[in-house]
Amino acid sequence: MPTVKAMNVLIIGSGAREHAMCWSVARSEGVQRVFVAPGNGGTALMGGKVCNVALKADALDDLLRFAVDNRVELTVVGSELPLELGIVDLFRRADKKIVGPSQSAARLESSKVFSKEFMQRHGIPTAGYHVFRDASSASSHISLPERHYPQVIKASGLCAGKGVFIALDREQALTAVREIFEERIFGDAGNEVVIEEFLQGEEASVFALTDGTAYRLFMPAQDHKRIGNGDTGKNTGGMGAYAPAPLVTVEVMRKVEELIIRPTLKGMRDDGSPYTGFLYVGLMIDRGEPSVVEYNARMGDPETQVVLPLLKSDFVAALQASIDGTLGEVLFEMYRKSAATVVIASGGYPDRYETGKAITIAGELSGMEDCLLFHAGTAYEGGRLTTAGGRVFSVTALGETLRESIDRAYRAVEKIGFEGACYRTDIGAKAL
Ligand code: AMP
Ligand code: GLY
Repeated sequence: MPTVKAMNVLIIGSGAREHAMCWSVARSEGVQRVFVAPGNGGTALMGGKVCNVALKADALDDLLRFAVDNRVELTVVGSELPLELGIVDLFRRADKKIVGPSQSAARLESSKVFSKEFMQRHGIPTAGYHVFRDASSASSHISLPERHYPQVIKASGLCAGKGVFIALDREQALTAVREIFEERIFGDAGNEVVIEEFLQGEEASVFALTDGTAYRLFMPAQDHKRIGNGDTGKNTGGMGAYAPAPLVTVEVMRKVEELIIRPTLKGMRDDGSPYTGFLYVGLMIDRGEPSVVEYNARMGDPETQVVLPLLKSDFVAALQASIDGTLGEVLFEMYRKSAATVVIASGGYPDRYETGKAITIAGELSGMEDCLLFHAGTAYEGGRLTTAGGRVFSVTALGETLRESIDRAYRAVEKIGFEGACYRTDIGAKAL
């Protein structure tokens, strides 16, 4: 394994995904310090080499100044916003190493129009679509007698996961178009709209780390986006995940690489925007045939909380290789285990919820085998741990089987308490 020299690492973000990254990076022997900006209560409690830095993820100039002043040799971006704002370009101009795509390459996530046109140009399987820039042409398209429902209506820009409407009939489609174009509920992110075919099948996500040409794959994962058991109720940021997802068989994965990942990386190189960093491919799999629902320019949350603990090789060595263009040479081995994560949310989430609730964690949790408690919306101040967001924890467990990892995760969930805490009780059940 390549040796990693002692270094300082900066992780940008405040969710359970960034806590998991922080945990993984801190395990790397060569790492001296891990800064998390802004981090959360969990990263504050890690101690040792880890410390929070009170800088927001979109304060690009301040983050760069911090990286320079504190001899940060490797920066990892958790969420999409700094990528869309061009943090990778900014750091690269200052000769600071950073994992992520350039602003131009991050359009795979930040512009759905860009990503659909890209996939069409390069023959990558995805739902058929049309692009609209005003309400009246979108409304006429929706109203054509030959239109089959459901239709999927998407604001093109970043909408924090809220920009997609599955319209079951013409009325719902017209309402979505009106809200985006006339009420401007997403502001400029709704200046362009993609209307696409509804894909049948089951969803899964595949994550690659890439240096632009070579890539390494994490275990395929499945998220649970709805708030309620049995995939009911409102969409959320994600209420739980597990990996590996049996839906993504070896044969499906082969197709994903051949028809999606390799053409995506080649297409981006050919178009003059080589794609580097994490590539999240959201898939719909219908009778063994994968197509792309969306790309994201980052890792998933909560999927990171299951795929990263399954990585056996040194995460930092792989991250460095992805910057140095030597990813083809590093080990990227996985444990032959399963992982599940259960998200504990504040009562009321994803709508209005209260924060500032005192959190209790039973002492025996820290001794539970193969359990990892990742914090999301928590704050740690004056020796008190309180809730500070919608998704509060992501409780991960590993097991020899998926069943074992799920049971372990739920046993750990019971050790955590705060007023109004809620979680799904069926994470991973559909794979059993
Ligand atoms: P996106 O932000 O594009 O991932 O869309 C959010 C969610 O909407 C996806 O995870 C799917 O559950 C659903 N979705 C998006 N596009 C489609 C589609 N073309 N067909 C069916 N479901 C879709
Ligand atoms: N788990 C969905 C996402 O990270 O976008």
